[in-house]
Amino acid sequence: MRGIRMLLVVATAGAMAYPTARAQHHVTAETTPQGPYAPRLGNIMILQQIRHSKLWFAAAANNWELAEHELDGLKQGFGNIAKLFPIIYDVPVAPAIRALDENEIAQLGEAIAARDRFKFAGAFDKLTAACNACHQVTKHAFIVIQQPISPPFNNQSFTPGPQDPSGMSGHPH
Ligand code: HEC
Repeated sequence: MRGIRMLLVVATAGAMAYPTARAQHHVTAETTPQGPYAPRLGNIMILQQIRHSKLWFAAAANNWELAEHELDGLKQGFGNIAKLFPIIYDVPVAPAIRALDENEIAQLGEAIAARDRFKFAGAFDKLTAACNACHQVTKHAFIVIQQPISPPFNNQSFTPGPQDPSGMSGHPH
């Protein structure tokens, strides 16, 4: 709090030191974002990519609660895409997302609820195929999603339950 306030005071003092014309240039409407934050489709997709990967490693570690959480994120992400981008390269998105919800995502939900890793793996591959099918029909066939090979981040443990944050539990130092 104190740091932020200090930063603002310094920034204001800096702006006042500028000649008027220069200061105005920095605070015109053109440089101030207008309206609500509108994410770009590619940015939402990168979030979907992360969730897709975490979903896989959560299930692999039997962390079914995390798997459910990631699946929920994917579902919401696709819901937002359908609302924000109703038509992508002539493809009406809502029906495609509805099909995804009713098939691949529903099957993943069932596999997670049943803690069934075999069923999960099958449903996960179907989801991945659906990602790629959409990329193909929306002129982005060069974006190819696959079963993840390694976790997207190394500071998140996929093992369920509280753990030693040093990540050293069980390892000799
Ligand atoms: C409704 C169709 C559709 C579905 C379903 C879809 N994508 Fe995409 N995806 C696109 C389009 C279109 C783009 C290109 C967006 C752009 O213009 O940047 C894209 C881009 C991407 C990118 C590249 C982002 C970047 O700029 O680096 C990734 C990664 C991605 N998708 C992952 C996924 C994953 C993972 C899934 C499935 C869980 C998925 N997508 C499902 C249409 C789809």
